[in-house]
Amino acid sequence: MEIIVCDSPHDVAVQAADILQGYANEGGVLGVATGSTPLLTYQELIRRHKAGEVSFAGCTMFALDEYVGLPIEHEQSYYRVIHDEFSDHVDIDPADVHIPNGLADDVPAACAGYEQAIVDAGGIDVQLLGIGTNGHVGFNEPASSLSSLTRMKTLHPQTVVDNARFFNSVDEVPIHVVTQGLGTIQRAGQLVLIATGEHKAHAVAQLVEGPLSAACPASVLQIHPHATVIVDEAAASRLNNVDYYKFIQQNKPQ
Ligand code: PGA
Repeated sequence: MEIIVCDSPHDVAVQAADILQGYANEGGVLGVATGSTPLLTYQELIRRHKAGEVSFAGCTMFALDEYVGLPIEHEQSYYRVIHDEFSDHVDIDPADVHIPNGLADDVPAACAGYEQAIVDAGGIDVQLLGIGTNGHVGFNEPASSLSSLTRMKTLHPQTVVDNARFFNSVDEVPIHVVTQGLGTIQRAGQLVLIATGEHKAHAVAQLVEGPLSAACPASVLQIHPHATVIVDEAAASRLNNVDYYKFIQQNKPQ
């Protein structure tokens, strides 16, 4: 894993945008995440797009996850979030933006279809990830199979509470979701996990320095050949080896 420690959430977004921009300009297949952390990265990419620095014209996007049973026009559906916060503001063909279907009559069949669509697109080149306070990635909660594929999951009560801020009340948060699996995520060419804030420090420490364990689903990054973790100082505050990670960044081989 490469660990990049930044001074601010803005700098985290700039670093993540630098990586995604390279793939976008190649017409790559981009895995996109929801939640609040990626928003600054999307804003930076939209700014660069308007400045003519990056084009998404030949790109395909696949979202990580979606709520089950939430109408796509609901402002908190991940269909809406990806479109409203990112894809509608850049030059990607909307037909090339894929979101898991949480409204299918046959959800398992829709999940299998989503996996196949990723394969048919040639696989995801770069997957952007956030991390939950309980170590989840996508909606792969603790005890998720490390080789799982896209499927329906039941949210952990902590995640429901964490996501209640996006809804009028905790009772409105759907408890069922569809999510790319940890096996799906591991097939991506590069993983870029971003985290900011002290409330993420424990999960980041488990991800980077804890054991490989389904108890911290994000720890699968440890067995990915090209994983990049970008954090601010607050999210890095519980890393034992933080000085070493900074030393590596300051002494990259030419
Ligand atoms: P957040 O969510 O970016 O809103 O903190 C991250 C996640 O749950 O994956």
